[in-house]
Amino acid sequence: MLRSAIIGTGAYLPEKVLTNDDLAEIVDTSDEWIRTRTGIRQRHIAADGELTSDLAVHAARNALADAGLGPADIDMILVATTTPDRTFPATAATVQEKLGITHGGPAFDVQAVCSGFLYGLATADAFIRSGQVRTVLLIGAETFSRILDWQDRGTCVLFGDGAGAVIMRAEEGRGDLSDRGVLATRLHADGRYADLLYVDGGPSAGESCGKVRMKGREVFRHAVVKLAEVTREVLDDAGARPEDIALMVPHQANIRILEATAKKLGLPPEKVHVTVDRHGNTSAASVPLALDDARRSGRLHPGDLVLLEAMGGGFTWGASLVRL
Ligand code: UT7
Repeated sequence: MLRSAIIGTGAYLPEKVLTNDDLAEIVDTSDEWIRTRTGIRQRHIAADGELTSDLAVHAARNALADAGLGPADIDMILVATTTPDRTFPATAATVQEKLGITHGGPAFDVQAVCSGFLYGLATADAFIRSGQVRTVLLIGAETFSRILDWQDRGTCVLFGDGAGAVIMRAEEGRGDLSDRGVLATRLHADGRYADLLYVDGGPSAGESCGKVRMKGREVFRHAVVKLAEVTREVLDDAGARPEDIALMVPHQANIRILEATAKKLGLPPEKVHVTVDRHGNTSAASVPLALDDARRSGRLHPGDLVLLEAMGGGFTWGASLVRL
C-alpha cells in the first residue's frame, strides 16, 4: 500500500527575539510568571514587511535541501496558517510563485489554527495515498504577532512567529506498523467551543482582521483532556503502544499541557520534545518547527516512531503517528 513518507524537514525563525523581560516593559507581567505558568523564555517576532509567505519560503527551501529535491519536484503545496498574507490569494499560491514553480499543481491553505499542521498532514496523506500527487510540500507558517492585542497580558506573552516545513513523498509500504511514513491520523473539531479562543474580526464579520481573545484557563482544561484522548486513539488505530514511541513532538502551547499529556499517556518527560521555551506558541508552525528541531538536534533518527499532536481554536484537535 502507498504511504506518505516524510523525506525532509526545514524551519525558519525571524531574526528578532522578544524576551519575557522585554514584554514586562510593555504589559504588567514578569519573566517569573511567564516561565513558571507557560515554560516560555522568549519568542521570535517577524520584522516589519516580513510576511507569512516569506517565513514559509525560507522553511520550504530548507526542507527541499534536506530532501535533496528542487521546487520543480513538488506536485502540491499546502500552507497551514491562521495569519495568511492577505484574505486571498491563498498564501500557498504566493509560496508557489516565490519558489518559481510554474507547472500549475494545486496550492491551497489549511485553516485549523494551532491544529493546522495536523489537518494539513492528513490532507497531504489522503492526496498521496489516493495516487493524485506524489510529492507534497506542507508548511506551517505564522506571523501570529500581527493578530495579538499587545495590551492583553493574558495572550500577548504566549505566542510567536515562525515557519516549519516537511516534504512528503509516496512510498510503497507493507501496511503494518513497520512502514515508513504516516501510519495513522485522527482529526476532531467541536465548534461549540468557539467562544473560548477566537479572533474578534475577519472579512465577513467585520472590516478589521481582529485580535486573539482567549479564556486561557478553560482552554487549558479542555486541551489536556482532548489531547490525551486523541493520542490514545491514534495509537490504537496503528496498533502501537506508548512504549513504542521514540519521541512525542507536540504542539507547543504551554509546558504544563505537554507534561500533563505525556503523563496521561505514561510517557516519561525525556520522550517529549520541547521548544516552547525558545519559540513560544507559533500556532500552525509549532509542530513542524519542533519536528525539525528534534531531527537536527539528533533526538530523532530514521526509523523512529514519532507521535505528533495539537489542539487549538475551533476547537480543533488531532494527532498523528509517523515513522521517520
Ligand atoms: O495553542 C492553543 C491553545 N492555547 C492554549 O493551549 C493556552 C492554554 N492556556 C494556558 O496556557 C494558561 O491558561 C495560561 C498560560 C494562558 C494562563 O495560565 P493559568 O495558570 O491558567 O492562569 P490564569 O489564567 O488562571 O490566571 C492566573 C492569574 C490571574 O490573576 P488573578 O485573577 O489570580 O489575580 C491573571 O490575571 O495570573 C494573571 N495573569 C498574569 N499575570 C502576570 C494572566 N496573565 C498574566 C501575565 N503576567 N502575562
